Amino acid sequence: MNFLLLFHHLLAALIVAFSVSLAAPTTSAQNATVDALVYAFPLTSYVNFANTGFVVNASNDFATNTFAHVTTLANASFRTIILPNTDTLYSAALVDLSAGDVVVTMPEREAGRFYVLPVYDLFGNNVCSIGTATDSTAGQYLIQYRPSDAGCDLAPVDAKGYAGTVSLPTVYGAILLRIEVYNASDVDHIVSVIQPQFNLTPLNEPSSGAPPLTSALLNDNLDVNNPPLSLLQLLSRVALFNPAEEASDSERVAATLEAAGISFDSQSYTQPAGVDLASAYSAALDLVEQVPSNPANLLPLGSSSPSTWSTTLPSLSGDFHTRYDVRAFIGLVAYLQLNSTQAIYPAYTVTQEFFANTTYMVEFFGKPNVVGFWSLTIYDGDGYLVPNALNRYSLGDRANLTYPDGVSVYGNGASGDEAESRSFYMLLQSTDVKVASDWESNWLPTPTDGAQFLFILRFYGPTLSLTDGTYKYPQISAVDVNPPLPSSE
Ligand SMILES: *[C@@H]1O[C@H](CO)[C@@H](O)[C@H](O)[C@H]1NC(C)=O
Ligand SMILES: *[C@@H]1O[C@H](CO)[C@@H](O)[C@H](O)[C@H]1NC(C)=O
Ligand SMILES: *[C@@H]1O[C@H](CO)[C@@H](O)[C@H](O)[C@H]1NC(C)=O
Ligand SMILES: *[C@@H]1O[C@H](CO)[C@@H](O)[C@H](O)[C@H]1NC(C)=O
Ligand SMILES: *[C@@H]1O[C@H](CO)[C@@H](O)[C@H](O)[C@H]1NC(C)=O
Ligand SMILES: *[C@@H]1O[C@H](CO)[C@@H](O)[C@H](O)[C@H]1NC(C)=O
Ligand SMILES: *[C@@H]1O[C@H](CO)[C@@H](O)[C@H](O)[C@H]1NC(C)=O
Repeated sequence: MNFLLLFHHLLAALIVAFSVSLAAPTTSAQNATVDALVYAFPLTSYVNFANTGFVVNASNDFATNTFAHVTTLANASFRTIILPNTDTLYSAALVDLSAGDVVVTMPEREAGRFYVLPVYDLFGNNVCSIGTATDSTAGQYLIQYRPSDAGCDLAPVDAKGYAGTVSLPTVYGAILLRIEVYNASDVDHIVSVIQPQFNLTPLNEPSSGAPPLTSALLNDNLDVNNPPLSLLQLLSRVALFNPAEEASDSERVAATLEAAGISFDSQSYTQPAGVDLASAYSAALDLVEQVPSNPANLLPLGSSSPSTWSTTLPSLSGDFHTRYDVRAFIGLVAYLQLNSTQAIYPAYTVTQEFFANTTYMVEFFGKPNVVGFWSLTIYDGDGYLVPNALNRYSLGDRANLTYPDGVSVYGNGASGDEAESRSFYMLLQSTDVKVASDWESNWLPTPTDGAQFLFILRFYGPTLSLTDGTYKYPQISAVDVNPPLPSSE
């Protein structure tokens, strides 16, 4: 699967930087250390998110509880995160509930425009989302720290006038708002009119007793050249006020962390005698690596058998509850994933290789039925967008896709039941080759020199037909360069 290869790719760097010893003692402290590392992995992504988006001044302080709006669509020069989408504009916020609750203001939605405002805990669990696929009521929503009673209440306006309440299990968290972009000329409107209407307001009560979220807390005095050691040091600083999402599991988790050498009293880590951190780290990575190849974690998609497409089970997407292994895997390759009500990311399971050196034709058997929007985006082997003269990185419901007879898939005359089930095609072909003119509107450029690439299919606001076997998922075939257009049905 694409994600697994990407995972290896990302890990290569870590493993080179930190060579692993082979001794493997089996004490309970050793086992607890493996579990603690699996548990801690998403913190790496949280620290990156905070450090790249929120450092505000020379003393490295963070701007918390305020939106950082991204005002341009990602293109091939964008290197901040891997696998960026080119469908939406992001607005990010670092949530700090240590000094009290925070209120988020949701503006009136423009008719037809999809947005989603997901709120995450410190470990990347999408505890709650406000948005088109769930509840897009304009108004004020309360975000509060409720370690023993985390969850999401999007009930009608309550006595205090809140349109809903998000209860985070952790005192620190994150928001990654996505607003649908229709086309390149739509960006200015979103930036000048829509983004400024989203607001965060700290209430400064009730105090949690936790320290404020600072750059020093996440970065200072960690042994960063020793990844497992620095991860456990970081976890020891935050564990007390940032328990497991499921209150029923938090005591067990705390006991495991203590057995691994984390002190909740002194909020520090001491390596227990006999523990081999290097082999624990290696074992933890092995566990995480098994996540995407374990069929028990996957939901087969579509009607073909055996299935060529799958996605992580809805119960393991975006919000991971007690599945710390899945949480770690997604935390490393697809951090701040949305839950399956908001979006699904079907993975093509046929090839174990990155695509390379070949032209592919993707046949869609009709339009996917989504409340929001959908797209297929090409990335290079490192997860970045592929440079090309058209600046085209994805195709989907807002592109000028055509049927083989030239009729527009999403333009005029394309609606109605017949059109919904009619096949259309995309061509994945290298920028090295001049694309035939009758393929140009349906062409997705792949890298030069036969280099590796991967793609991600995204369905925002998926309807049931996409997961219950009704929708026939795309078929992908290797073809000659600029193949003849398939005949119209
Ligand atoms: C540690 O884990 C290994 C492998 O899962 C297991 O075989 C062993 O019994 C465990 N040891 C302890 C002390 O829990
Ligand atoms: C840096 O920014 C933070 C957050 O805005 C502020 O509290 C702090 O006083 C600033 N520090 C300096 C040295 O300007
Ligand atoms: C890519 O995005 C950057 C940042 O928005 C912009 O400066 C640059 O011109 C863009 N490049 C292309 C080819 O559009
Ligand atoms: C996804 O999030 C929405 C809104 O927070 C919630 O209503 C829904 O139950 C969640 N779905 C799953 C599968 O967790
Ligand atoms: C781009 O989107 C806007 C909506 O914001 C629409 O009015 C306009 O017609 C679209 N332009 C093109 C070229 O599709
Ligand atoms: C679709 O075609 C129209 C007319 O040629 C063009 O203005 C628009 O930019 C195209 N949209 C995309 C997303 O390529
Ligand atoms: C693509 O083909 C070329 C020429 O046959 C070969 O050198 C290159 O290694 C291939 N690339 C990949 C990623 O397989």
